[in-house]
This record gives sequence, C-alpha cells and structure tokens, in this order.
Amino acid sequence: MASQVKFLDTTLRDGEQSAGIGMTVEEKMQIARQLARMKVDIIEAGFAASSPGDFEAVSRIANEVEGPIICSLSRAVAGDVDAAWNAIKGAKKPRIHVFLSSSEIHQMHQLRKDREDVMNMAVDMVSRAKGYCDDVEFSPMDATRTNRDYLYRMLEEVIKVGATTINIADTVGYAIPSDFQTMLNDIQQNVRGIENVTLSVHCHNDLGLAVSNSLAAIEVGARQVEGCINGIGERAGNASLEEIIMALDTRKDFFGVDLNVDTTQIYPSSRLVSRITGMNVQANKAIVGENAFRHASGIHQDGVLKDRSTYEVMKPERVGLPPDVQLVLGKLSGRAGLQARLETLGFSLDREEVTGVYQRFLELADKKPEITDRDLEILMDEENRSTSEPVTYALETVHFTSGDKDIPTATVRLIGPDGETRTDASTGNGPVDAVCRAIDRVVGTTARIEDFQVQAVTEGRDSVGSVTMRIENSGRIFTGRGANTDIIVASAQAYLSAMNRMLAADEEAALPAVGTTPD
Ligand code: KIV
Ligand code: ZN
Repeated sequence: MASQVKFLDTTLRDGEQSAGIGMTVEEKMQIARQLARMKVDIIEAGFAASSPGDFEAVSRIANEVEGPIICSLSRAVAGDVDAAWNAIKGAKKPRIHVFLSSSEIHQMHQLRKDREDVMNMAVDMVSRAKGYCDDVEFSPMDATRTNRDYLYRMLEEVIKVGATTINIADTVGYAIPSDFQTMLNDIQQNVRGIENVTLSVHCHNDLGLAVSNSLAAIEVGARQVEGCINGIGERAGNASLEEIIMALDTRKDFFGVDLNVDTTQIYPSSRLVSRITGMNVQANKAIVGENAFRHASGIHQDGVLKDRSTYEVMKPERVGLPPDVQLVLGKLSGRAGLQARLETLGFSLDREEVTGVYQRFLELADKKPEITDRDLEILMDEENRSTSEPVTYALETVHFTSGDKDIPTATVRLIGPDGETRTDASTGNGPVDAVCRAIDRVVGTTARIEDFQVQAVTEGRDSVGSVTMRIENSGRIFTGRGANTDIIVASAQAYLSAMNRMLAADEEAALPAVGTTPD
C-alpha cells in the first residue's frame, strides 16, 4: 500500500458553500496561490458549471497556479462535465470530479430517479470525463447512508470506465470512526478494481467527527483525504485539513504515512482564509486558534518555561506560528522584517509590493510605537480592498450625529459605478442603523443585518475596531468587513462591502448560465 497520503483542499468549493461566504475571483486566486505554497496535492478550485464567476475562478487557477492538480467539481450531467473540462484544460495537471447521489434517500427524494438510471448516469458521465482527461474522481454522494451492494456495484462500474480516485463522501456527517473503518474495509474487499485506484474520503462535521473519521479512514488504507482550511464548509463544515495534517505529522509513529504538505504554511493559510471569508477562528481551535499554544495556569507555564515539550505535542513553528520571541515591529523596522512578518500572516508580496506597503507601515508606526499582527492585517486589508473586492460603490465620507437625547442621523457620500458622487441622509434606531439606511438610499436597495460583530483589534483607547457584518437579501447572505478607529465608520465600510458583494452577485446572476440542466 502506498505510504503517501494526498490532500485535496476544497476550501474554494465546499468551503465556499458555508452560509454567508462569497469570494471574488481575486480572493480565490490569493487562496489558491497560498494552497500551492502549502503544497496541498489537489486544489478543488470550484464548481465550474455553477456560475460564470466560478467558471472564471477555476479557469484562472488552472492557468495560473502551478504545483497542485487543479480540479473542478461536476454533477453527472453532460453540460457540467463539459464546463468542468473547459475550465481546467489549461492546467498542467487537470482533474474532473464527478459526483452523484448513491443513497436511496437522495435518489428518491431529491433526484427522483430510478436507481438503475442513476447507475447509468454515473457510468456515462465518468466515461465522458475520461474522454477529456485521464485523472477522474468519482464521489458517490451520501455514500455512508447507501445500500452496500448497490454502492459496490456503482464503484465497480465507474472504475471500469476509468475513474482513478473513488471518494467516499460522508455528506451528512453520519459516520462513526470504527463503523466507517468497517465500511472502508468492506469496500476494499468487495469492489473489484478498487486496488488500482486511490481510495479517498470526504467527511462532514455534523457530529463533530469529521477529523476522527478521516484519520480512521487513513488507518485502514484511504490515501486521499478531502477537507477545508479552518474546517469551513456546508453546515457544521468539512474536515479541518490542518488538524488532519498535524495529527499525521505529530503521530507519524502511529500512522506511518508520508505527506507532501509544507506544515509551516498552515498558519498563514488559516489567517488568509479567515480574513477573506470573514469567518473568525475560535480561540480554542486546535492548531490555529489563538490559544492553541498559550499556557495560562501557573503549573503549565512553569513547565513550558523549562521545556516546551512538557505541555506541547508539537512546536508552534511547525505550523508556521511566529516564534515566541517576536521581533517588535515599529518605525525602526526595515522592509525585510516587515515582509517576513507579512508572510507569516499569509501575505505574499514581491519587493516592489513591499516597498508600497512600507510607506503606509511607516505612517502607522509614527502614530503607534508597536505594530501588532492585527494592525498589519488591517493595513493589508485596506491595501487590498480595492483590488480584490467588488467595488460598485466606494465610501467617500460618512458623517453622523447621535447621543442619548438625539435622533441618530447619518449622511453618506458614495462614488457610484459611473464615477459620480451621490449623497443621501437618514435617521435610524441608532447610528449604525442610520448609516446603513443612508447607504440603502444611495444604492437603491436594502438588506437585513443578520450578524454584526465588533472586535477591538489593537489595544488602548485609540484601538482600531474591526467590524464584520453579515447581510441577508432574498435568502442570500453576504459578508463585509471594515476597520477604523471609529466603529460607526467601520460599520459603514463593512455594510457597503457586503452590499457591493450582493450587487456583484446580482450582476453575475443576470449573465447566461455556463452549464446546462440535467439531460
Ligand atoms: O459532501 C459531499 O458529498 C460533497 C461531494 C460533492 C463530494 O461535497
Ligand atoms: Zn461536501
């Protein structure tokens, strides 16, 4: 059995399916480049047929990102397979990933098709994909709730027509580690040809078992695992890739498998994904949480000060965390120090770009003697906003009055898509409400604020506030971020950034579809 475990990262596809996450093509490019730096084996760049934006992202990643295999998801439908191929054909190492529901529950209630018709669809579409590309993955969706004999037959048939990876999808997070191992052993014993393909698993986290199930699968022979950075994804998310990687790395004595991944790129990847998606990483999250390497109790601190191995099973540097004794960045820091720290946070810049950022860094350092990692992230957010976010409306000024006896009132001035400046004003149930209503009046549409988080990202009274806002419109959710020493201004930025994403999605929805409907 091969000793190498391959990682398929689906942050850009299944991860993007998390409620409220919508990434621009430019943001997906940034993540894909970082995943290549981290040396994941396969990047699932998107679902090409699902929208023109997804098609463009998959195609740009295929053409521009080198190293990993670049894969597009595809339903078992001719138009999807064709769109997937058209999007990935520029890649040095392309892969088409065809999926189709295998469980009776899905076939009866969702597909509403006869099981033999579904079997034929799987065979036909894997053959079609094989006509384009040697590397074809097939996923029986909801495999863990599928009748075993039917599943064996389906897998055997798609292997016969050329599937090279079989991915057992625990779509609804139903599996239990020991039971999942039995299932995978049974598959290996009962499916002819399975020994000639890569056995993969794709676990969701509905019962909080996605990582445990993935590791259990590796123990019994799975040699590809799928997951997302920070465990983002549909509902409770996908298996957290960094947790699986570090379990295999830290317990090589137990698993005895090899990995290609550069573990020191884990932390930069985590920060980048968190920033772009607006999904904060919980402080006690394994591997990448803020507290993952912090020791609070006296006894633990005493031990760690004597030798870190007393209370740490891996070194923070192994996952790319800044070493304990950090260089303090301030106005005497040079470009090299700034560049190194930015890399730790997932920003990869060339010399020219560093020179551009350095000027802004010096301006900030003039106001603040010590620049923290969060300050740098805000500075870079500001720097990147205009290049990676859709900007239909740009915020020029915001003015508001408020107080315990006043009616909160706000005036905003925005620059519209035609370059014209537009001003409007509104009252509201508080200054944030007034500002959002004023923006609505300029933009000509509205949205409901679903979630509103304010974080103080720097210390002291002059602290910069970071606002993450999730807005809802017709069942769709969009996230926006803003940062300013004034949290009302930060809220206006965040609301407008989410609004701009909504307007971009409306525009994209108006474009003709890429794929076709099932035939
Ligand atoms: O969860 C799932 O079943 C999937 C498939 C498309 C692999 O994401
Ligand atoms: Zn999934």
